[in-house]
Amino acid sequence: MDEEELQDDLRRYSAPSVLPARLRSFPAVYLSLALSSLLLLVLSALALARVSSISSKLLQEPPERNFSDWDSFLFPCGAHSPDWQYFSGHCYYFSLTRLSWERAREQCRERRAHLAVVGSYAEQQFLMSRTRNERFWIGLTDQNSEGTWEWIDGSDYASTFTFWKEGEPNDSGRNEDCAHLWLGGKWNDVHCTFECFFICQRPLRPKSSNSH
Ligand code: BGC
Ligand code: CA
Repeated sequence: MDEEELQDDLRRYSAPSVLPARLRSFPAVYLSLALSSLLLLVLSALALARVSSISSKLLQEPPERNFSDWDSFLFPCGAHSPDWQYFSGHCYYFSLTRLSWERAREQCRERRAHLAVVGSYAEQQFLMSRTRNERFWIGLTDQNSEGTWEWIDGSDYASTFTFWKEGEPNDSGRNEDCAHLWLGGKWNDVHCTFECFFICQRPLRPKSSNSH
């Protein structure tokens, strides 16, 4: 063993011992281990409590609902009136029989409604989707004054939506004063005694006047 190795050995064994230092830090290690385990335990317990509270909420029965609430939600125009269909605040009736324009108007009145007044392209599309590519009267006429078209509910014809077929209204035979959705859905003027299906419309009745 040369001098240098001897010095090294002396340094190693005379240096402050590693072992006693480790021994001194043992309680601290155990303490911090115990604290971390405790913390882990507390966090797990909290997470478990949260999960169980969320799952119990998810498993809860939905609040009791009155069936008539659902009915009026799903069928605003009446669950027991499948012949009336809802669109944008109104109820529509699509006839299954053909009548003249006047008789169709009466039929709508008897149903507390009027022949349909088409106010927008969206409404027109809704009507077209329900008219089975058949002819259906709407509430538009120029019986009062040839060429002056009037909506049955008083809506201003000049400033509202129109959807005439190309070339219509043409007052063919000088006797066409009532409008219907023609095959394909665009409007045509035709003789008012012509018999075709018809569309009645009424506003959706307000739910209840004492609801507030
Ligand atoms: C014309 C329409 C008319 C209809 C009457 C068609 O040939 O193009 O304008 O209203 O006949 O049925
Ligand atoms: Ca015509």
